[in-house]
Amino acid sequence: MTSSDSSTAPTQTPNSDPAAILQAAATAPFGTVFGEVMSVARVDDGGWTAPSLESLASFSLHPGTHALHYGSSCFEGLKAHRTIDGGIRPFRPDKHAARLQQSCGRLLLPPPPTELVTELIDMAVAANASVTPPAPGSLYLRPTMLGTDITIGAAAYPSHSAILYVLACPVGDYLPPRPLTIVVETEIPRTTPQFGVVKTGANYAMALGRIDRARREHQADQVLFAPDGIVQETGAANVLLLDGEHLVTPELTDAFLHGVTRDSLLQVARSLGWKVEERTVTVDDCIEWAQRPGAEVGLMGTAAVIAQVGTLVIGDRRIDLATRDAADSKLVELRRTLGEIQTGARSFTFA
Ligand code: PLP
Ligand code: COI
Repeated sequence: MTSSDSSTAPTQTPNSDPAAILQAAATAPFGTVFGEVMSVARVDDGGWTAPSLESLASFSLHPGTHALHYGSSCFEGLKAHRTIDGGIRPFRPDKHAARLQQSCGRLLLPPPPTELVTELIDMAVAANASVTPPAPGSLYLRPTMLGTDITIGAAAYPSHSAILYVLACPVGDYLPPRPLTIVVETEIPRTTPQFGVVKTGANYAMALGRIDRARREHQADQVLFAPDGIVQETGAANVLLLDGEHLVTPELTDAFLHGVTRDSLLQVARSLGWKVEERTVTVDDCIEWAQRPGAEVGLMGTAAVIAQVGTLVIGDRRIDLATRDAADSKLVELRRTLGEIQTGARSFTFA
C-alpha cells in the first residue's frame, strides 16, 4: 500500500451522543441511524492512501463523478457483534473483503488489498463501539466503493480513482420477526448473469420493480427469483430448505450472490452432522418441500440473519407452510447456533 495522504492519524471525535443514537436505532428502520464516524481510504494512480477516520458528513462528490453516472460502485454488508468477553468482533471480514475484491474486479475498479479492507472495518468498529448494541442487535458495517473519476465521457472506460469508506449502523432486525410471505418469480432473473456475484446497486435496482409489485399485489415481504423454474435467491438473501436435519440450498453459480451467511450455515450444519445438499433447486422442489409436514423454508443473509418463510406465492397459488414451535424448529436451532458463534459463546473455526 502506498500512502499519498499525510493525515493518517484519526481526526474524528467519537460519537457525540451515543445513548441518543442507540435509542433512535432501537425503533428506526434498519440502516437509517448511523454512527457518526466512518473509516475512509482513497485510491488513484499513486496508490491507496492510508486509512483514516472521518466524520460521516465529511466528503462531497462532484456531480460528474463516474459512479453517479456509470454505476462504478459496489459494497459489502457485514456485522460486528458484542462478544461475551466484552469485545466487539466483526464476523468473517476476510470473506467480505474477498467478495468486495471480486465485485471490484467485475466493475474494473481498483481492488482494495484485504488488509486495507479489514483495517478499515476494524477502525470503523473501534470508532463506533459506543453505538454498538448488545445481541441480538449488532453494528452493521457497509464498506462502500465508489469510482470517483470526474468525467461524464467515460461511459466505456473504468474509473481509475475511487473512494472506499465503511459506514456503521446500530441495527436490530432487517426483516419482520414473523413468518414471511415470498412471491416466486419465474419469468426474470434478479439481475444479469454476468453480475449475479457482484454486490452492486444496479442489481438491487433491477430487482426492485418485481419486489415492489409483489408487495403491492400480495403484501409480500420479498421475491424469490427462479427464472425458468430454477431457484436463485431473493432480493436480499439466499434461500434454504430444511427438513429436520436435512438442508438443501441452490448450488453456487455465477447467477447469484455467494452469501457469507450461506457459507457459514452450511459449515455449521455439516459440523452438527446434518445432511447438506448443494444442488439445483426447482420451483417444483419448493412446492413439494413447502407441503411436507414439518419442513421449513428460510432466508439467510447478513441483514436477514435466518428468517422463516411462512407463505410461498407461486402464480395463483398460495402455499402456507406448517409452522413449527421454536423448540422444534431446526431453523431456530441454526440461528441460535450462529448467534452463539458470533458472540463467542461457542467456538467455531470457519474454513
Ligand atoms: N443475496 C443478496 C441479493 C443479498 O443482498 C445478500 C445480502 O448481502 C445475500 C444474498 C446474502 O449474503 P451475505 O450472507 O453475505 O450477507
Ligand atoms: C446484507 O444482508 O448485508 C445486505 O446487503 C442486504 C441489504 C439489502 C440490507
